[in-house]
Amino acid sequence: MDACCGADGSDKYDAVFDERFARAVARRYRRHGLSRAERRIVEFATAVGIDGASVLEIGGGVGEIQLELLARGASSTANLELAAAYETEAARLIEEAGVTERVRRRVGIDIARRPQLVETADVVVLHRVVCCYDDAARLLTAAADHARRAVVFSYPPSNWLSRAFVRLSNLALRLGDRSYQGFVHRPDEMFRVLRERGLRPLGRRRGPVWNVAGFVRA
Ligand SMILES: C[S@@+](CC[C@H](N)C(=O)[O-])C[C@H]1O[C@@H](n2cnc3c(N)ncnc32)[C@H](O)[C@@H]1O
Repeated sequence: MDACCGADGSDKYDAVFDERFARAVARRYRRHGLSRAERRIVEFATAVGIDGASVLEIGGGVGEIQLELLARGASSTANLELAAAYETEAARLIEEAGVTERVRRRVGIDIARRPQLVETADVVVLHRVVCCYDDAARLLTAAADHARRAVVFSYPPSNWLSRAFVRLSNLALRLGDRSYQGFVHRPDEMFRVLRERGLRPLGRRRGPVWNVAGFVRA
């Protein structure tokens, strides 16, 4: 792991995405494999051609999507995280999968604020991340500018239910003295950003909690 902890406003993420969260995600992946939204992300990524491809995942947590893409032929993956707590679980999963040489993990670099520190990749993935970041346009601009072939990302549907859920969660976080907040960004605005950076829609899959969209370089 390349560490750069405390940089780029990572403290607010550390307070929420802690070891317990990391352990829960790793346990769920070991027991049940990928979630439905994660499977859809993998389907989009393989549809654009994952064999021999490099993958950059922004906010990739313990890295389960990357492990599945490596198993399907990706040559290498790079993970960017603002929270440091995933690294122990991620290292275990990487070792179990026998892909240590093909994975790079970096903590504390916000690609939206310091895009020049991050290398480009064929495919850029963001799962459950735009909803954790206030400036989705800036984050997706950086994602698009680092994607040679495609950007695949998940986002919560913009409806009253998800907005109510996020409002309630944010209230609970504030009451618990956490500065981290969630967001429901407008999908059309996010798609517009990707189009403006030279990507065109490949498709969209809707789900009750997470929608997944794939964009490819035009
Ligand atoms: C809800 S968690 C999801 C983690 C993982 N993708 C998963 O589905 O288990 C959101 C993650 O996004 C990370 N994150 C948010 N903005 C980020 C950014 N600009 N760069 C890297 N990581 C970011 C947070 O640190 C947090 O771990």
